Amino acid sequence: MAIDTAVSDRFELITVPRARGVPSFAQDVVAGMSSTPKRLPSKYHYDDVGSALFDAITHLPEYYLTRAETEILSEWGWQIVRLLDAPVDFLELGSGSAIKTRLLIGEALRVQDRLLYCPIDISTEAVCASSMALVESYPELRVRAYAGDYFDVLESQAVLSDHKMLAMFMGSNIGNYEPQESRQLLALLGSALRPGDGLLIGTDLKKDRATLEHAYDDPIGVTAAFNRNVLVRINRELDADFDLKKFHHVAHYDERRGSVDSFLEAQERMSVRVRAADLRINLEAGERIHTESSYKFADDDVARLAEGAGFTPRSVWHDDAKSFSVHLLVRQ
Ligand code: AVJ
Repeated sequence: MAIDTAVSDRFELITVPRARGVPSFAQDVVAGMSSTPKRLPSKYHYDDVGSALFDAITHLPEYYLTRAETEILSEWGWQIVRLLDAPVDFLELGSGSAIKTRLLIGEALRVQDRLLYCPIDISTEAVCASSMALVESYPELRVRAYAGDYFDVLESQAVLSDHKMLAMFMGSNIGNYEPQESRQLLALLGSALRPGDGLLIGTDLKKDRATLEHAYDDPIGVTAAFNRNVLVRINRELDADFDLKKFHHVAHYDERRGSVDSFLEAQERMSVRVRAADLRINLEAGERIHTESSYKFADDDVARLAEGAGFTPRSVWHDDAKSFSVHLLVRQ
């Protein structure tokens, strides 16, 4: 069936303002730098430069995650979209790499005439750019994009359509949340979805320390630049004077928690001013700022998380090297 509506008729943007009481960048920096050990929220890595650096990371030989997930979706996308019974619509947390989303959109449009794709992303620019490209490529696609924080959008909006929903949380993005936060996010998704709706979730498997630590500390230093970019942002946006050369990137796998933790380690004792936050930071030589946790999941860990939030594990797929998992969960 040919659908000849103009591209703009098939794209809608809904901007969801931040909930009151959400801390600003300056407040998060003050709180994180005043705590022991020092820490910064990982979401601040993603300004335009940080997003471009993350994109470069996905092409590094050591960072197998994106390739492994793409392999799974290329091979099994046809089965994933057929397991829920067409027609389905898509809800994606983080508009993600267009390539991976396209694999699933393409497969869905083989079994149904039309598809509504609802991405939620914190970056208005990113979500608009990827949405416009998608509606141009697929005449049968409509996009209703939400610009906002996942929690704010899911709490404030009726994100459903008249069709069954397949929600997607890909790319090991759930790994950046602390266990308690991922339980909350899954529970919130559970309350936004209806019984029988699906949740597709991409998680990196627990594995040997060397493979994991190399994935987060590449020899040409792209990941180090990605990590240091958070200090570049504080310098630029909050008028600070971090000397970037004095911070080493460190990635350490904490096997007990199942998380690769990233740090910026001060190479000497120093004092840094953050003028826009009226803050002075004192660092000892060797002191670390924790900047990210990237949690790893055995398939049982995902099953437990799912069941705790009212989802039943339906299927799981792996890449050939068995480094990554894609789980289909069904809302009970
Ligand atoms: C985008 C959160 C999935 O944790 O693997 C990559 C970000 N950090 N290298 C991850 C990241 C360092 C990435 N996620």
